[in-house]
Formats: sequence, structure tokens, C-alpha cells
Amino acid sequence: MAKNILVTGGAGYIGSHTVLQLLTGGYRTVVVDNLENSSAVALQRVKELAGQFGNNLSFHQVDLRDKAALKTIFTETKFDAVIHFAGLKAVGESVQKPLLYFNNNLIGTITLLEVMADHGCKNLVFSSSATVYGWPKEVPCTEEFPLSAANPYGRTKLFIEEICRDIHCSDSEWKIILLRYFNPVGAHPSGQIGEDPRGIPNNLMPFVQQVAVGRRPALTVFGNDYSTKDGTGVRDYIHVVDLADGHIAALCKLSDSKIGCEVYNLGTGKGTSVLEMVAAFEEASGKKIPLVMAGRRPGDAEIVYASTEKAEHELKWKAKYGIEEMCRDQWNWASKNPYGYGSPETTK
Ligand code: NAD
Ligand code: UFG
Repeated sequence: MAKNILVTGGAGYIGSHTVLQLLTGGYRTVVVDNLENSSAVALQRVKELAGQFGNNLSFHQVDLRDKAALKTIFTETKFDAVIHFAGLKAVGESVQKPLLYFNNNLIGTITLLEVMADHGCKNLVFSSSATVYGWPKEVPCTEEFPLSAANPYGRTKLFIEEICRDIHCSDSEWKIILLRYFNPVGAHPSGQIGEDPRGIPNNLMPFVQQVAVGRRPALTVFGNDYSTKDGTGVRDYIHVVDLADGHIAALCKLSDSKIGCEVYNLGTGKGTSVLEMVAAFEEASGKKIPLVMAGRRPGDAEIVYASTEKAEHELKWKAKYGIEEMCRDQWNWASKNPYGYGSPETTK
């Protein structure tokens, strides 16, 4: 019997790629998303890309905080596990609107956990983030590093991790995997799905992509005086398809009777600077990315990359793609969809 997986936030960037891998891996998938930061077009394309498996996808446009609607979905289907992506993720906005972030991310998650418990579904994979390592004292970051939060968004990740540890302590039937993503970039190789942020992108690669297609004049580089190879910040960029596969590995791990509440980094273990990433994208796209050097962005760490050992040993998962493939696939998506899922008229 095919397993039933509920994916919250499944219309979003990482969610849509994961839903596609789930469908092609033979899972039946139900997506719950309020489309606050995504488009239903992404799911239509996922359905098409999944071919014969496309019929195993269903979608509910529901906010996670709508408990009654969520209960109905759990009554209709008995889920084997939930992958929980839904949440707001813009760091700067979270500083301006902390209550929006606490309300959406925390109440959304608590409501989901209550409904799961009521329906006897106690298997969860949660999207945490490398942001919980703050400015790490050393690299690579291992899962045992001390945790901190530099902004309300990061605090929601930290709080939800703690909530998960507490509910597992209270009831050992819960099996929970907390996945700490490093920097997801790239797109599905088909070029049909990818990242489509609303408004001005906060993150490096969506910004670079919009410069390449002529939507923005230049990339502002936040700081070139770090103690790194070329002075710019270093991150662990991971191909979104590798990340999506990490979720399938986590689901397999949940079938392991011994697991309690475990945390895994999902990264490549390699650090790449802003200038190296820009150069790789220029190579992949044949486009020149004009740069404007600026001061450091408040709250940014200098060097962050993952220790990947735990995920490799215990999840039997390892990232396959390097920055060349990430940039190639990101450019393929960007050149085919310069305005993402929208059009010049609907997209600012
Ligand atoms: P995304 O914004 O593309 O996807 C999140 C989805 O959740 C969106 O489709 C949005 O509409 C939906 N959503 C938000 N609040 C909701 C609610 N209350 N009810 C129902 N749906 C809701 O973001 P993403 O990049 O795909 O990230 C997915 C998850 O991974 C998030 O939890 C994010 O914090 C986490 N994460 C992302 C990154 C990154 O760099 N992209 C890094 C680390 C962790
Ligand atoms: N950067 C620029 N110019 C830009 C955007 C970014 O120079 O316009 C630089 C940053 O200073 C940093 C690097 O590019 O050195 C990467 O920045 P991103 O904003 O793409 O990524 P961050 O590592 O700062 O943060 C992202 C998410 C967080 C998440 C973290 C780890 O925004 O939510 O990755 O997963 F927690």
C-alpha cells in the first residue's frame, strides 16, 4: 500500500520540489498551503512533471491555523507522516513584524501538532534551519553545536525544535526528524518549477537570477571585509533537488522503530563565497552580473557550512550536486520563467 504523506507548505519553493520527489517515489501526497507566498501553478506543474503519478496529488488551500479545516483533512485521510514546511521565512520582515511570525509559524505548528496527536499521526519531518547556529564559533557546524537565534524568524525555528523535543519527551510514540537546511538554491532540471519570491528577493541567488534576466540592475554584495578567501560571506549552498531527496531519506528513517526526536543537517559540507557563487552563475548563464559593494548586512554570519556526517551515516543521504549544477538549473528555470509563475504585469 502506498503511504499517505501530508505536506504543509507544499506549494512553496522547497515543498514543490519535495512533493515531486514524493510522487515519483510512489507516495500519495496531500498538500495544505494557504498560498500566502506561493502559486497554485507550481502544483499544476508538479502534477504534470509527475506523469502517471500526478493523480496521487491533492491540494487544499487552507491556513494551518484553521483547525476545523485541518481536522476535516485528517478525518478524510489517514496519514503515515507529515512533512511540515509551512511558515513565513523573511528574516528582515520578522524583525519588523515579530507577532506576525510568532502567530503564523508557532500557532500554525501547534495547531498542526494538536490535530496530528488527535488523529494518532505522530510521525513528523520539520523544516528547521542553519539559522539556529547563529554565528558559529567554528565550522563545519555539527548538530551538537550550541543554538541561538538572532531574529524572530530564527526564534520560531528554535522554539519549534524545543516544542518537538518536549512533545517527544511527553509521549514516546512521537517520531520526529528536525532537518536543518543550509542554503537551498537551484531548481528542478526541467526548468518548470523553481524559486519565485514575492517582491525584492532577500536571498543571494534569487537576486542574482533577477539581475541576470534584467529585472534588477545590479547585485549589492553585503560586505567584502570578512576573514574569508575573498572577503565575502561563505555559505553552504545545496541543490533543492538534493534537499528534497533528503526528505525522502528522513521519511524512510521514520520507519525505523528506534528513532525518537532527531536532528540532521542537510548541506553539502562545502563553503562557497558570494563572489564564487556569482562567478559560477555568470559561467552557467553567460550573463554579466554587475556588482555594487556595500557594508555588511546586520545579523549576517561570516562563514557557515555543515558537517554532513550524521546525515550520511544515519539517513544514508548525501548531496549529489555541486554549484555548477545549482547555477545551471537555476538559470534554466530563470530563463524559461523570467517572471516566475507570474508575468511582467502581475510581478513587481
Ligand atoms: P516558501 O515560502 O516558498 O514556502 C512556504 C510555504 O508555506 C508557502 O507556500 C506559503 O504559502 C506556505 N505557508 C506559510 N504560512 C502558512 C500557513 N499559516 N498555512 C498554510 N500555508 C502556509 O519557503 P521555502 O523556501 O520553500 O521554505 C520552506 C520551509 O523551509 C520554511 O519553513 C522555511 O522557514 C524553511 N527554510 C527555508 C530556507 C530557505 O533558504 N529557503 C532555509 C532554511 C529553512
Ligand atoms: N548576500 C549578498 N547580497 C544579497 C543577498 C545576500 O551579498 O543581495 C550575501 C549575504 O550577505 C550572505 C550570502 O549572500 O553572505 C547568503 O545570503 P542569503 O540571504 O542568501 O542566505 P543566508 O545564509 O543569509 O540566510 C539564508 C536564509 C535563512 C536561513 C539560512 C540558513 O535567509 O532564513 O539561509 O538556511 F536560515
